[in-house]
Order: sequence, then C-alpha cells, then structure tokens
Amino acid sequence: MNTYTNVKDLGDLHQAVQEALQVKQDRFAYKSLGENKTLLMVFFNSSLRTRLSTQKAGMNLGMNTMVLDVNQGAWKLETERGVVMDGDKSEHLLEAIPVMGSYCDVIGVRSFAGLHDKAFDYEETILNQFIRYSGKPVFSMESATAHPLQAFADLITIEEHKRTARPKVVLTWAPHPRALPQAVPNSFADFMNEADVDFVITHPKGYELDERFVRGARVEYDQMKALEGADFVYAKNWSAYRDPHYGQILSTDRSWTVSKRHMDVTNNACFMHCLPVRRNMIVTDEVIESPRSLVIPEAANREISAEVVLKRILEEAK
Ligand code: CP
Repeated sequence: MNTYTNVKDLGDLHQAVQEALQVKQDRFAYKSLGENKTLLMVFFNSSLRTRLSTQKAGMNLGMNTMVLDVNQGAWKLETERGVVMDGDKSEHLLEAIPVMGSYCDVIGVRSFAGLHDKAFDYEETILNQFIRYSGKPVFSMESATAHPLQAFADLITIEEHKRTARPKVVLTWAPHPRALPQAVPNSFADFMNEADVDFVITHPKGYELDERFVRGARVEYDQMKALEGADFVYAKNWSAYRDPHYGQILSTDRSWTVSKRHMDVTNNACFMHCLPVRRNMIVTDEVIESPRSLVIPEAANREISAEVVLKRILEEAK
C-alpha cells in the first residue's frame, strides 16, 4: 500500500479486518518494521482521537513521530495555484509539501472540507497535492470527503460485536448546530457497501449523500422504520451535499436525536458514533451511557486501524 484514501486501498476487506484483529492481539509484534522511519502527521484541523491513535500506532510499529499543526505556529499556507500572495499567507503548499516530505518517510494528512466550494472539496485538492508533491506514501487522517481510518475502525468494531453473520446496520442523520462535512458518512457508506451487512441509510429529505458512496444502498426517509430490527445504529450529522444547498444546514429537527424511543424499535442494537459527539443533539445521555453504547471501544479501535494501514505502508516500502 502506498496511499490510503478509501476502502479499495485495503484490497480484500475481510482479510484486512482479520489482520486488524490479529494486530490487536499483539500490537507490538511489528515493532522492528518502523525502526529509523519517521511518521509526519499534518493537521489543518483540530483532532483528539486521530492525533493520539495514529501517533500511538506509529510508536507501536517503532516509528519516530512528528506532528505539525498548520494553523498553530506554522506559516499560513496558500493552497490555490495562481494566487498573488499579497495577503496573510506566507508560504505556498507547493513548496511546503516537498519540504515536509524531505523530513519523513510517511505522511498522514487531516484536512476538512471548507463546505463553500464543492468542486474544491470533492476534488480533494489538498490531499491530492500531498500525494503528488511529497514524494512519500500518504494516508488520509480525514480529508474533505472521506475518513477511511474511522470507517475501518467502525468495521472492526462491528465485527467484534456482531451477534449474527449479516447484521443490520443503520446510518442515521442526527441534528447538530454547526454545518459538518460529509466525510464520515461517506466513508461509513463506502465500507458498509463492501462489508457483509444489511445496510440502510436514513436522513431527512435534502440530506442525500454523493451516489459514489451510497452506491444504491437502501435510503429510508422514515427514521423509525429504518431503525426497526437494527443490530447497529450509527449516528452522525452531516450538511447538505446536493446543489444548491451544498454545505448548508437544512434541518435541526430534534426528533431525529437518537433516544431510548429510537433504540426500543431495534434488535437491542449497539449504538455507535465516531466522536466528538454533542450530547442531547445527536444522542441522549441515556443512550450513549447505556451498556449497548460502543463509542469508547470504537474510538480505541482507531489505534488498530491506523496500525494496519501504517504496517502495510511500511511493508510495501521495505
Ligand atoms: N473521530 C475523529 O476523527 O476524532 P478526532 O476529530 O478527534 O480526530
């Protein structure tokens, strides 16, 4: 593996999950792989889980790790070519990227969608510049349109907790006071469509996701109907994808907040969310604190998904 940006980069998904479960048994088994190798993690946005879990994964593999917070202490970076740089941005990404590449062996990039320019976001302008100009293997730590480390951790968690061979997994939109990217639901759909699960998406009208990720999965606009018999409930907010409302909040309807009323129609489902979560907007205290909530083991599996991806990158580079 030389880049990791979507589910296809993992190849056989069943095999990738089995590898993850094996890595989890002994997360230090590959400690010599990363000896004298340096992992650089570049953050254009805030993070708790991705930062710590990916750094930990690199350390498990014996790597040295460096973190650059672009918006805290680094020069402000211009991202668009052709701009006359007479404003507050002192350096262009096109110089900064190869310089960063010269100091490391593997680069992880976190860059959220701006939610203003759909083409800029969905062309993955920033991530693709790293892939093109760094000269090093690059993996996504959440890009404008995808969060494949999160979705891989989600699938590992489902595999660990499923009670039937083909569980029903429901991705439900839930309200949020700020406009959020579609990256997490896009990647969750990307992975669930490749996994052996009965996958259903539910959201209010107007929140349809990009068909390249939905790929014909069942979309049910009646949330309660979608949740009936579910084995896993995956809650997430996202802003509108379709024009002319790209990046906008179309609803804050709190009847979509996942509560005991919603969980009661499921098959005693496990509750999942990628975190950070706004309690009593996305999910009630009662549901997130219940024994069926998987949010903590799900976050813990971020270390494992990152370790498998880094392990494969290091093995390829050997
Ligand atoms: N789920 C996730 O990516 O969390 P952070 O934004 O804290 O990294």
